[in-house]
Amino acid sequence: MAPVPLVVSAHIAVDTPRNNEVRHDGIHDAFVVLLEINDIVFIFLLCEISAEYHGTDGVMSCLPCLDHLSRDDYADVYEPSEDTFLFIDALDKELTRIADAKPTRILEMGPGSGCISVHLLQQLQKRAVQCLPSCLLIDINPKAVTAALKTAACNGVGQHFDGLQGDLFRAIRPRQTFDMMLFNPPYVPSPAEEMCEGGIAAAWAGGVDGREVIDRFIQQAPDHLADGGCIYLLSERRNKPEEIRQLFKQKGFCSEEVLHRRAQNELLNVTRFWRVGWGESACDVNS
Ligand SMILES: C[S@@+](CC[C@H](N)C(=O)[O-])C[C@H]1O[C@@H](n2cnc3c(N)ncnc32)[C@H](O)[C@@H]1O
Repeated sequence: MAPVPLVVSAHIAVDTPRNNEVRHDGIHDAFVVLLEINDIVFIFLLCEISAEYHGTDGVMSCLPCLDHLSRDDYADVYEPSEDTFLFIDALDKELTRIADAKPTRILEMGPGSGCISVHLLQQLQKRAVQCLPSCLLIDINPKAVTAALKTAACNGVGQHFDGLQGDLFRAIRPRQTFDMMLFNPPYVPSPAEEMCEGGIAAAWAGGVDGREVIDRFIQQAPDHLADGGCIYLLSERRNKPEEIRQLFKQKGFCSEEVLHRRAQNELLNVTRFWRVGWGESACDVNS
């Protein structure tokens, strides 16, 4: 008997609640193909799987493909977590503003897996932004730099990325500037010993009040921000976000919270900082 293919189409979505987020491990547009040959029925399942996240604030984002990273890699490199998802959602919320600002040089400090800046470039690409910005990744963890560059390459934007291993801005020239900086820093309050461990501990160990790396970043970042540029920085309630805004204010910066979200016992926020005199005239809108 001639083979008779039978195609059944379905849409299946599996929702797994994660804290205050819903993760859609979605199998979208699945096709079941039944093929009968010599009384034997072969069943093929063809499907497209994607991971999407959205918070209770209704913002929903897609992560770049991270299939090249295994469990073993995540022993050394920060695995995208609630803070990463919040950052990505915040950038999505800001996408029109970012596209309109036409940044040409972006710096992501502490990229880990690289999914924040890779996601941003993919979104700009989807918006048909003519000239995609170049993106420099700096991480103190060399394995993170390698992983992040691979993420960029695997997601088709590798030619726009470059990576350096280093402690904050130490690896770049004193006058090298960027139009936009992104930093999801190590923010967990931790004992001093953990600060010196390096490797994966550097992903979360933030020292006293979780502020040691953040405070050094605030000291150094303004020298590397181009005129009209802005900084997106994540912090947590225990980092005293109001104090962080004051420190930036002392350096002549305005600030606006883009998004906040509770994740387990953490209250995370992403805030945009820009120099007085650039962008909106209503300075320090939230404080
Ligand atoms: C919370 S993880 C964020 C990783 C990634 N951006 C994400 O959101 O999934 C913080 C990252 O900052 C890096 N980091 C910590 N201290 C640093 C420093 N002094 N200079 C550069 N990168 C640093 C860590 O290695 C880690 O990759």
